[in-house]
Amino acid sequence: MFTADQTQSLQKNTLTWLENSSSVSPDNISDIRDVLRFHEHRYYVLNDPLISDAEYDMIFKKLELFEKNHPESITKDSPTQRVGAALIKDFPKRQHLVPMLSLENSYDENDLRDWDRKVKEGSGLDEVEYTLEPKFDGASISLIYEDDMLLRGVTRGDGETGDDITPNVFQIRSIPLSAGFSKYNIQQIEIRGEILMSKSSFKKYNEGLMEEGLPPLANPRNAAAGSLRIKDPKIVAQRNLEGFLYHVSFIQSDEQKQETTIKTHHDMLNMLWNLGFRSPKNELRCLKGIDAVIREINEFESKRDDLPYEIDGMVIKVNNLDLQDKLGMTAHHPRWAMAFKFKARQATTKLLDVEFQVGRTGAVTPVAKLEPVGVGGVTVSSISIHNQDYIKEKDLKIGDRVLIERSGDVIPQIVKSLSEWRTGAEKEISFPSTCPVCNEQLFKPENEAVWRCVNAGCSAQVVEKIIHFASKDAMDIRSLGEANVRKFYSLGLLKSIPAIYELKEEDLRGLEGFGSKSIQNLLDAIEKSKQQPLHRLIYALGIRYVGETTAKTLAQHIHQITDLAQKDIESLQQIEDVGTKVANSIYEFFRHHDNLEMISQLKTLGLKLEAEPQSNSSGHLGGSTFLFTGTLNKLKRSEAEAMVEGAGGKLVSGVSSKLNYLVAGEDAGSKLEKAKKISSIKIISEEEFLSMLSASL
Ligand code: IVH
Repeated sequence: MFTADQTQSLQKNTLTWLENSSSVSPDNISDIRDVLRFHEHRYYVLNDPLISDAEYDMIFKKLELFEKNHPESITKDSPTQRVGAALIKDFPKRQHLVPMLSLENSYDENDLRDWDRKVKEGSGLDEVEYTLEPKFDGASISLIYEDDMLLRGVTRGDGETGDDITPNVFQIRSIPLSAGFSKYNIQQIEIRGEILMSKSSFKKYNEGLMEEGLPPLANPRNAAAGSLRIKDPKIVAQRNLEGFLYHVSFIQSDEQKQETTIKTHHDMLNMLWNLGFRSPKNELRCLKGIDAVIREINEFESKRDDLPYEIDGMVIKVNNLDLQDKLGMTAHHPRWAMAFKFKARQATTKLLDVEFQVGRTGAVTPVAKLEPVGVGGVTVSSISIHNQDYIKEKDLKIGDRVLIERSGDVIPQIVKSLSEWRTGAEKEISFPSTCPVCNEQLFKPENEAVWRCVNAGCSAQVVEKIIHFASKDAMDIRSLGEANVRKFYSLGLLKSIPAIYELKEEDLRGLEGFGSKSIQNLLDAIEKSKQQPLHRLIYALGIRYVGETTAKTLAQHIHQITDLAQKDIESLQQIEDVGTKVANSIYEFFRHHDNLEMISQLKTLGLKLEAEPQSNSSGHLGGSTFLFTGTLNKLKRSEAEAMVEGAGGKLVSGVSSKLNYLVAGEDAGSKLEKAKKISSIKIISEEEFLSMLSASL
């Protein structure tokens, strides 16, 4: 999208816009917009930002302020137009310029060879050049640009007509609001692609739902599709959706100046990429003959889990666009493309029964017991079905056949019941009114979907708290899994969390399955856990609404666990991502005598309750490499270097691809120039360096 020269001048302009004295005027307004677009592209398309979020915001605010005072200057594609959109009343129906067809599916080598034979027959060639790219597992979208401007974004719908979700598409930062199609003499273009939620955004989103006591979504595809239908674009913006564009279905161009350089699918993806779209240009493989395609597919499938987003297969396309035209379409799909589906991570099975489990917060959760079934490499025999609302929404009955899915590293979920298979013998799922463990009356707080046992002494809650404390993502006490916790609890050896650290060899000797070796392993694992980092301990305490992500954020803001007890609700809320609900819950937790007593016991028993001193490569800078150049204003060079090492970073002496951050002070010279040519190096200012360090405190 940006040539080297443009990049250089936009970088230079960025520095001018970062100066306090620079201000927007009608003469330079397009310049500031270009600078903002440039940084959006670096961040959202290339994943390689050159400035900090705070710096972006500072430039953005300048533009926003000017536009507020001069509304006549606002253009539809101004970067400010992504924010502040009004609520959507409804999604009008729109007809696609060209119907959105689906792809034919293949599942093995034979299917592909059959297809290759047909393509060769249809084209009269002995060998065909194919392209191979990921089959993105998201929600499909069709975008129309007219005279370089994004006119609308439409969902697939029934293939002929979809829903106009343009205000929501404006929230997806990797989709340009305007692009220079006129350079290619294109007046109108319809582009197809997929909207995705990355695995990490999905995990975080689901964590948030569960912390709220809401059921998680089954997969990132549903999360993306659901997000696109939200009627508040501001919420859509928070979902961090991403767009991959992989197909052009329609082009209206100036006949006389017809662009002829685009002859292949590869060229088309390059064109989209050069115009600033996130096309799968870097993921694309061009391959001669079907054997090469088959080899590459196997290669890709083995790397499926390493990708930051979900794919459910690969798409093979005939590279040459004239040949694509020649092969044409059937009523349902193009003959020039084929989807290859990876092994399913979905399966169907029978819902045999529902049991009710009491969690560590007293929540009573229905758990579906399933006929064991293999999915995505593991056998699944039970799945949480969360609460009554969820059961109603999914229309689940005992005896139903259900579709289940295990998506990436997410816990398996029921996607839906397959009511078509019902015989009439299925039974409604009925909820108990008393705790299945301690028999206490259950209680359902208003506005919550969950029934709770409020008896703090309920043995189920105590056991679950210990299980959570020792679990892999918390204190990670390897030999103290669920079964052992239950066993030790029932034997009276383990009645509380601190009691873990009081277990002795003689308590365990003679227990079935515990030889001296396994006893030693267990005691070693317990001892080792005393040194777990603070964020794990915070998470392990099981404070309501404090998931792994929140625990990490909290740990970055305190020196020791008791600092949390000192904070009032207001100061807790000042920590990023901590809202009223989380702040209240943390505050309440530290007001309970039992919890304070437990923390003090853990301290006496030798647990490390302080944050890591940041003096090695496990520090905040995590082994990243730094080099300073030019004159620093606030720090002496030696001070700055000591700070890097103190925070776990490393210093290097020259500019090379091994360098992660170049801190450029005033009058930086050749090192800066050299670093600009290596795209993996992040060039930061002294201020940004300081804010990176302060984020670690
Ligand atoms: S090409 C005319 N390429 O899979 C052909 N589709 O079942 C246009 N999909 O509807 C589609 N990744 O939503 C194409 N790299 C890719 C794709 C892809 C995902 C989706 C798309 C399509 C469905 C086919």
